[in-house]
Amino acid sequence: MIRAAQLRKDYPMGDDVVHALAGVDLLIGAGEFVSITGPSGSGKSTLMHILGCLDRPTSGTLEFRGAMVSAMTPRQLARVRNAHIGFVFQTFNLVNRTSALDNVLMPLVYTRGAVDRSLGLKALEQVGLAKRARHLPNELSGGERQRVAIARAIVNNPDFILADEPTGNLDSRTGEQIMQIFHELRASGKTIVVVTHEMDVAAQADRLIAMMDGHIIEDARIDEARRMDLLATAQRVKRLHRKTAS
Ligand SMILES: Nc1ncnc2c1ncn2[C@@H]1O[C@H](COP(=O)(O)OP(=O)(O)OP(=O)(O)O)[C@@H](O)[C@H]1O
Ligand SMILES: [Mg+2]
Repeated sequence: MIRAAQLRKDYPMGDDVVHALAGVDLLIGAGEFVSITGPSGSGKSTLMHILGCLDRPTSGTLEFRGAMVSAMTPRQLARVRNAHIGFVFQTFNLVNRTSALDNVLMPLVYTRGAVDRSLGLKALEQVGLAKRARHLPNELSGGERQRVAIARAIVNNPDFILADEPTGNLDSRTGEQIMQIFHELRASGKTIVVVTHEMDVAAQADRLIAMMDGHIIEDARIDEARRMDLLATAQRVKRLHRKTAS
């Protein structure tokens, strides 16, 4: 599905340059469920934007389904994105003055002539929000907004779904509901990449990638032992948070 080689992304800042990605090699097969972790500023979102064809690398190559997307113009990239990719942003990115349903339908406006509203309702149904179709984003809870964002990401029936901290702003119960949706999407054959700093979320994938300073420092399958280990770490972190909060 994805073949990346020596991806670099530099951001010139005055006399300085930020090396957000400093040479990333990555292969992701169809149907994989991958999680990406790493400290703030390590390049996770930058990598996601490039994998999701929202942005281009400064150098290096990226193949998506055999097509060399790193050489494409922005217009060609948009075509690939609309046809194959669903993106869930760190900050939802919903349009506030229009309904949940219209937000979900937005990707179809760019791809088709007449928009089939039943596709939007179907996507909202998939995330359990059919009853909220007419609500504006500010008439929805945080978890519901995130589910609208997921419905928007899947309305095109993409084969590749990228989600940047999809549970970051949610309580743990709502976070579990969101993860359940990803499991269902995965079971229907989608390839999924999720960025998270929560180890219990990361543990649900079958592969874990850790980033640091624009590099991948670990890339490993998650076996049962590792899963237990990650869940135990998540428990410890939660206990610590509760202690410092009280
Ligand atoms: N548009 C930009 N212009 C300049 N520097 C940027 C830009 N976007 C990101 N950076 C820098 O690139 C580095 C990687 O940023 P990125 O957003 O990929 O980090 P991240 O791992 O997603 O962090 P977080 O966990 O906080 O979301 C950071 O040092 C950041 O300051
Ligand atoms: Mg980020």
